Amino acid sequence: MLRRIDGIETSLQTQKRFVRVKGMLEEHLPYSQACENNKHPILKVLRRYICSQENLLEIAGGTGQHGEFFAQKFPNLYWQTSDLPKAVADLNLRITAANLRNLPLALPLDVNDSNWGMSNYELLFTANSLHIMSEKSVERFFAGIPGVIKKQGLVFIYGPFKYEGKYTTESNAQFDDWLKTRDPKSGIRDFENINTLAANAGLSLVVDESMPANNQILIFSRSE
Ligand SMILES: C[S@@+](CC[C@H](N)C(=O)[O-])C[C@H]1O[C@@H](n2cnc3c(N)ncnc32)[C@H](O)[C@@H]1O
Repeated sequence: MLRRIDGIETSLQTQKRFVRVKGMLEEHLPYSQACENNKHPILKVLRRYICSQENLLEIAGGTGQHGEFFAQKFPNLYWQTSDLPKAVADLNLRITAANLRNLPLALPLDVNDSNWGMSNYELLFTANSLHIMSEKSVERFFAGIPGVIKKQGLVFIYGPFKYEGKYTTESNAQFDDWLKTRDPKSGIRDFENINTLAANAGLSLVVDESMPANNQILIFSRSE
């Protein structure tokens, strides 16, 4: 009896220690406040479109916070995240710590690669990436989509956009200036241009919804 109680106490202590160590590790993982702020509003939109689909490819997974959060919220969805080869090790810190059945290790993927080396995804998601990539990379991003997404598949793109050359807010104009100072090839993209690139890739716009903090979520469906 005593041994059994000892055993229970030891196992509780081990669990507590595990939770403490996990917490310490999490404090040191790559982190983006923007992800924390936008994950709940994005989830609300995803819930309207993700039901029976089984797999999703994320491009430009960054810190992995979206992958971790959405994989928890959609336990039946296999969330395959990816990022540039040089960014994958950092991304995988959080993916490994999350230890979720439906969140495999991130794959190295540069949208400029001629062959993305994957196919048959039902969904594709990317957040805050098109304004970081160069215009050429954005073109390559859309050119790559038909090779990885099934027909009728959905593509979710979250981030800021311009409409008819105009910023939606003054703060987006300032953000664009800041982006260009940092990297002249980056910048907030024109919605019309994105829509044309998408159409050339056989994608039709399903939704363009305004999101908090001057962002949009664009959802495209692959028709061809
Ligand atoms: C601002 S971060 C966004 C990360 C994350 N999606 C988020 O919402 O926090 C931009 C991401 O784009 C990725 N990226 C930039 N160029 C890329 C490319 N050519 N192919 C794939 N990912 C790229 C970067 O490595 C980075 O993770």
